[in-house]
Amino acid sequence: MTRTPVLLDCDPGIDDALAIAYLVAAHRAGRIDLAGLVCTAGNVGLDDTVANALAWLDLADAPELPVAAGAPGPIAVPHVLTPETHGPRGAGHAELGATTTRALDPRDGARLWVELARAHPGGLVGIVTGPSSSLARAVALEPALPRLLRGLVVMGGTFHGHPGNTTPVSEWNVDVDPEAADRVCRAWEEARVSDPAVPAPLWCGLNLTERAVWTPARSERLLAASDTPLTRALVDALRFYFEFHESVGEGYLAQVHDPLVAWLALHPDAVVSAPAHVRVECAGEHTRGMTVADVRGQRGRVDNARIATDVRLPGGPDAVLDEVCGAITTLG
Ligand code: BDR
Ligand code: CA
Repeated sequence: MTRTPVLLDCDPGIDDALAIAYLVAAHRAGRIDLAGLVCTAGNVGLDDTVANALAWLDLADAPELPVAAGAPGPIAVPHVLTPETHGPRGAGHAELGATTTRALDPRDGARLWVELARAHPGGLVGIVTGPSSSLARAVALEPALPRLLRGLVVMGGTFHGHPGNTTPVSEWNVDVDPEAADRVCRAWEEARVSDPAVPAPLWCGLNLTERAVWTPARSERLLAASDTPLTRALVDALRFYFEFHESVGEGYLAQVHDPLVAWLALHPDAVVSAPAHVRVECAGEHTRGMTVADVRGQRGRVDNARIATDVRLPGGPDAVLDEVCGAITTLG
């Protein structure tokens, strides 16, 4: 059986680290071919997202996977960092240090997107768990990218009136670079106008991902099942994420968006979703970064997205996190 090639474009980031570990486990299990990682500036600056991705891969004993540096910041606005959310270096309380000795892939992240898509025409699944800045560059480099991919799964936005986590209407990955997210929306719209067979990207917004809640009890269970340098670092990182969520009134827990989205990308049959035409508001004084979904066809445009609303798995997102934990315990 051919393994599905997967590219992860991420900005680690604490929950990105869980997504990386989960995907490495799926790769090791022979379920996917994790063909490469693109690091985008996001939760922390590009140097840190790159260093963190390399360190997490080393801890997961996957130093052979290509890692490329992508966009160093948003298209049109200065990069806003959020050290209060993921820690000053993006790994919470984990001390990742300079754990790696290996070199980065020499290709720019956008180039890696394009080359992997061309290498697997109609086969590559792209997963974005950070800002869309590198993906927007990749589409500029290769406008046929939507046609070349088997699928695209994005952690971004918020839908159906669910409040934002950055402004009242915007989710962080989209809010940091709305122009990039909107270019992605437009690229898939154009592609689907000329070829309706191009798969519409799956947008996984806060309306679903905030239901993926990691608790201290889950960290304890993870360590009890597998006490390794990787799991200890993840648990240390997560402690910071608990403190952040507590500081914003969510309680001592963490919403872990990115591993849920990585799992959904690997389980398309378990996704409940509906088609829509999505654009990102780039101008509004109070609405910049809002993902505006036309679910009634009022704009008369072709659907360029599917909006994820639920997980078809008994136990829902919590059961997904059980699977993510189970996968991570197989590592290292
Ligand atoms: C998204 O923003 C980041 O802080 C997380 O890693 C996740 O990708 C949630 O809004
Ligand atoms: Ca992220």
